[in-house]
Amino acid sequence: MVCIKALSVAALLGLVEGTPLANTQTRSLKRDTLAFDYNSNKVRGVNLGGWFVLEPWITPSIFEPWANGGGVVDEYTFTAAVGKSAAESQLSQHWGSWITEADFQEIASFGLNHVRIPIGYWALAPVDGDPYVQGQLPYLDNAIKWARSAGLKVMLDLHGAPGSQNGFDNSGRYGNIQWQSGNNVANTLAAITNLATRYQGDTDVVTAIELINEPANWGNDMGLVKKFYYDGWGNVRNTNGQTAVVIHDAFLDIDSYWNGFMNGQSGVNNVILDTHIYQIFSQDEVALKPCDHVQAACAYGPKVSTTDKWLIVGEWTAAQTDCARWLNGLGKGARYDGTLPSASSGYYGSCDNKFTGTVDGMQDVDKTNLAYYVEAQLDAYEQHTGWIFWAWKTETAPEWHFQNLTRAGLIPQPLTSRKHPGQCSTSTCMIPGN
Ligand SMILES: *[C@@H]1O[C@H](CO)[C@@H](O)[C@H](O)[C@H]1NC(C)=O
Repeated sequence: MVCIKALSVAALLGLVEGTPLANTQTRSLKRDTLAFDYNSNKVRGVNLGGWFVLEPWITPSIFEPWANGGGVVDEYTFTAAVGKSAAESQLSQHWGSWITEADFQEIASFGLNHVRIPIGYWALAPVDGDPYVQGQLPYLDNAIKWARSAGLKVMLDLHGAPGSQNGFDNSGRYGNIQWQSGNNVANTLAAITNLATRYQGDTDVVTAIELINEPANWGNDMGLVKKFYYDGWGNVRNTNGQTAVVIHDAFLDIDSYWNGFMNGQSGVNNVILDTHIYQIFSQDEVALKPCDHVQAACAYGPKVSTTDKWLIVGEWTAAQTDCARWLNGLGKGARYDGTLPSASSGYYGSCDNKFTGTVDGMQDVDKTNLAYYVEAQLDAYEQHTGWIFWAWKTETAPEWHFQNLTRAGLIPQPLTSRKHPGQCSTSTCMIPGN
């Protein structure tokens, strides 16, 4: 549980967020006291990815029948292809086994204090005509109970919005961005209200709700995104005053774009800005050498500390390539080895027998590079409110498997210890052989 004695008076009053300059409104003590002190404790967490929102690269076994085609690329097309009753039975089995109470216990034993749990609107406020199936919520209820017994806090994350907010497969539906059409935004707000209402008695565990994951700044009107953030904040806080509200940066600059927004004026408080840091989804980034990745990670330290709200790096990875099978979409290749058709302008190395398989099966040189990179990222991302790794586990993507990476000694234990200290205080690359 949270160490109450460590709370500052200002934090107890809910007056401070991010920097001492923000937030000057007064509200009742009870309403604004969060069960996790985001001012003075670091968020250290893992994403329970691939659980309630399928992603082909996290659980390829579910998508294997379509490995050579057939048009199934995401949860929407999967449920459409197999039909409701088969989808219900296969997914119930998945929900009941992918993450269990033992995972929550091990997560806590690694010194982590948060889990971020992605969920789709279709579990909360289904839309007529969708192929998606329901039944996730009893499993989510269990997750909250398991988190409570393990002493973990939960950030609930609306990962899929109707119409798709980004066109990524991880929104549930790959393709067009149509979130701001028709009734989709209103339905998203209804899903948020349902989520906040369901867990309004669990604010000792559910300390934060993220209104929407990764709304694209392309294909969406940012004015409407911001309006949605205010409306969603209101829906959560009217239901439940003891939950922080998380807004994603929409891939826009965390300080120059977002500073000044929802930073305590007009009583809009307890807002966490979420940024996701990956160095693998462009040609320029997969071209980086291990030392360059470390340097780029370190450069985020001063950056994250300049935001006027609480700031978490709510997704990041140990991966330095996009080689994990189907990471770019079912059936698609990688930028790293030039096999992703739309981005085939470079070749930076081979993906063969690398980065798909197990942590133990990785080559020593890759393990070494990975360990340095992880520690540099921890050094950088702890310079503000903290971080949440993507993901806790995957079937065959070793660099994305926090559980096995930690068991293998490639992520430090305790999380604050360093085998390679001081990487971000020197411009010299410390990785041997580089
Ligand atoms: C993770 O570890 C488990 C248990 O040893 C193993 O079965 C699994 O294949 C590993 N997965 C990866 C991606 O390393």
